[in-house]
Amino acid sequence: MQNKKVVLVTGGCGFIGANFVRLVTGSGYDWRVINLDKLTYAGNLGNLDGLNEGENYRFVKGDICDAELLETLFTEEKINTVVHFAAESHVDRSITGPADFIQTNIVGTFTLLEAARKNWQQDGSFPQGGCFLHVSTDEVYGSLGETGFFTEETPFDPRSPYSASKASSDHLASAYFHTYGMPVRITNCSNNYGPYQFPEKLIPLVFNNAVKGKALPVYGDGKNIRDWLFVQDHCEAIAEVLEKGENGQCYNIGGNNEKQNIEVVTIICDLLDKKLGPLENGEPRRSLITYVTDRLGHDRRYAIDATRISSQLGWEPRVTFEEGIAKTVDWYLDNQQWVENIVNGDYKLYYEKMYKA
Ligand code: NAD
Ligand code: TYD
Repeated sequence: MQNKKVVLVTGGCGFIGANFVRLVTGSGYDWRVINLDKLTYAGNLGNLDGLNEGENYRFVKGDICDAELLETLFTEEKINTVVHFAAESHVDRSITGPADFIQTNIVGTFTLLEAARKNWQQDGSFPQGGCFLHVSTDEVYGSLGETGFFTEETPFDPRSPYSASKASSDHLASAYFHTYGMPVRITNCSNNYGPYQFPEKLIPLVFNNAVKGKALPVYGDGKNIRDWLFVQDHCEAIAEVLEKGENGQCYNIGGNNEKQNIEVVTIICDLLDKKLGPLENGEPRRSLITYVTDRLGHDRRYAIDATRISSQLGWEPRVTFEEGIAKTVDWYLDNQQWVENIVNGDYKLYYEKMYKA
């Protein structure tokens, strides 16, 4: 019988990591979760408010680039599963300052893989039927034209420093399976949205500005397409890959929800108008839409073919975009203090510098 899962979750105080930690420390799971997070600007202990340390949960503040700390954790906790979320994750920041992306996403992933390998080879205690799950993005595949989908066989063609650093870490994770036989699995997911997303990403940024009557910056012609997935669906997919996935395999995860950015922005505006009424000047929130200079190297379209995870593991997204975006808007309306704490913290200086607000 497999031992109790002792899962090292990296980046568990970020957007997806926190949703995942909440899921697997909840009912239906009896895992011990060790959340290792450096608490960068994107990491927030408030994302896990209400979750107390105890038999099934421990928080460790630390860096995935710290080999000594990792060795101690693997040995002390007898880690038998790793779910690796920790990363620098925002494309715009990777354009203005790529160094942190190289350090965390490439060097950090390498350091974590090495720690896992040493522990697994020396003590045999990793992974005890578990695996090293590397969480990645569909952006590694590059940009699509008007037709077609990314499959797991699509060649990598990353085009931003962010996606290039993630592609590099995917290759490293894959190499540890092929070279050492370490039980590695990789997931490549489309754009997530939902509770606890840092308000520099499109959906929470538009929410926050639209509530305050501020301009809604839409890059380029607003017709770039993303395939949106509700974060809880992503977290459930990861749990399925841990439980039923095959070592050495990659799984694409997507929502079948292709939308142009401008559609997403107008949906949020209309939902807020319905809930809060129009702006003070009587105008609908769509009037705040402001087309701005395009992002450098802006990928045109992402779309996922999720046949493998659906046919082999039986996973399907459960939340439609219409349901998910309504839930998300409600969550942000109910948690405006969470947003305020972030936008009035260190992020304020960054935002003012970037947007001269
Ligand atoms: P996020 O930026 O919200 O959170 C990242 C977390 O990692 C933060 O808590 C941060 O403190 C932590 N972290 C950063 N550097 C660290 C380091 N050196 N050591 C330890 N912790 C560190 O990111 P997210 O949106 O939750 O994304 C999580 C993962 O999922 C990333 O690997 C990302 O590439 C991938 N992904 C994200 C999306 C998306 O739409 N957000 C889609 C597909 C894949
Ligand atoms: P983002 O949320 O940064 O995710 P990613 O770049 O990883 O897809 O951006 C989603 C899309 O929205 C992308 O095409 C860029 C666009 N965008 C805007 O038009 N305005 C904005 O203020 C932001 C942050 C993004």
